[in-house]
Amino acid sequence: MNATSTLTMSLLVAMTIINPVMAADAEVALDGRGLAFDKNKGNCLACHAIPNDPKAVSPGDIGPALIGIKSRYPDRAKLRAQIWDATANNPKTSMPPFGRNKILTEAELDLVTDYIYGM
Ligand code: HEC
Repeated sequence: MNATSTLTMSLLVAMTIINPVMAADAEVALDGRGLAFDKNKGNCLACHAIPNDPKAVSPGDIGPALIGIKSRYPDRAKLRAQIWDATANNPKTSMPPFGRNKILTEAELDLVTDYIYGM
């Protein structure tokens, strides 16, 4: 084997080792915060500040700050319902109906609800 083919072989070996790891990484499911922050999922930060989460940067202020949620929504089901379909409470809201329009799956909605519930 000359130097080039040795290098090519090493690269091929490296790719087979690294690739499955990268694939697994990409498939890692997002947690509640990840879903809330992800622009292709909840994108809650586009409209809401989440003052108790230091990682919630550059939030929009179209919607109210999500803070002290547990005291205002003692009933978690009401919070989930707000996120599932905000138009039920306010037909003119700009908040997308995440559950009704299947923007988030039911399982994802639960994760986001749990995360917001703790804020
Ligand atoms: C396009 C803007 C927009 C996005 C995106 C958005 N919201 Fe909202 N949200 C609003 C607005 C506006 C309100 C104010 C209530 C209304 O319009 O009826 C609101 C209200 C709420 C409320 C009630 C707050 C209160 O003080 O009672 C909760 C909880 C909430 N949003 C959670 C979320 C979560 C969680 C996400 C992400 C999954 C999200 N919102 C994404 C615009 C948005």
